[in-house]
Amino acid sequence: MSEKKPRSTVVSKWAKTKVLVKCKKLLPFIPDTQKFSESTLKKMLELYSMVYVKPEIGTYGKGVIRAELLKPNHFTYQIESTERSFKDYKSFYNSIQNYIQKKRYIIQRGIHLLKYNKRHFDIRVMVQLNPEGKWETTGLIGRVAHPKKIVTNYHSGGTPIDIKPLLAVHISNYEIQKIIHTLNELGESTAKSLHKKYPGLKQIGLDIGFDRTWTPWIIEVNTKPDPYIFNKLADKSMYRKVIRYKKAAAKV
Ligand SMILES: Nc1ncnc2c1ncn2[C@@H]1O[C@H](COP(=O)(O)OP(=O)(O)O)[C@@H](O)[C@H]1O
Ligand SMILES: [Mg+2]
Repeated sequence: MSEKKPRSTVVSKWAKTKVLVKCKKLLPFIPDTQKFSESTLKKMLELYSMVYVKPEIGTYGKGVIRAELLKPNHFTYQIESTERSFKDYKSFYNSIQNYIQKKRYIIQRGIHLLKYNKRHFDIRVMVQLNPEGKWETTGLIGRVAHPKKIVTNYHSGGTPIDIKPLLAVHISNYEIQKIIHTLNELGESTAKSLHKKYPGLKQIGLDIGFDRTWTPWIIEVNTKPDPYIFNKLADKSMYRKVIRYKKAAAKV
């Protein structure tokens, strides 16, 4: 009889968030996330002024909406590089609903991401099971959004860049080392927490966003992270390790 292998990927952003918020250590870094509905969108805009509305199952930044309540009765949302403005909640909501149709969406507190050359950026943290069977952070890379876009994904016009020059415009070398340490730890804790629930996982890629308080917000956890993004860096050492671990894990 063949045993059923535990799954190695989890696509639902909602399912992954539900697991992570149960971990006390991770909870402070997870932006408030709710299922999409007319009343929840209104409530979250009143609470946070800016939210991201995203497909529960999606990749490459596709279908991602940034919605804002700028002042009473002034709502806007942006999809790709198109922005629309509304004078009342109902017409704003109807327009978003019309775009979403019957697809399942989530709403997440919006993080005001730090900028590099006037463009928003976040950081991809690659965490893999190493050949000793322990979770290890193997890659960190910055992703800078296209100036007209609201997402940093490479497949939506974002640019991958070395995190050192990216962070150096904001903080000292000493602080950069501390941040790298924090990202490594956060990546490994997240992997362990998800792995308990999904024992088939062998790699994850976190999208971490920083705001002005330098809180490392976990925007998303991918279970099929792209290893090739690391090949965009001049220094190939991360890329080589990522590929080596990936091949080793595939054999197990
Ligand atoms: N809550 C948020 N606050 C700020 N930016 C966000 C937020 N959610 C998503 N983004 C931006 O959109 C990108 C794509 O969203 P993500 O949740 O990672 O979906 P995908 O699976 O399409 O990559 C993120 O990398 C980030 O740049
Ligand atoms: Mg992502």
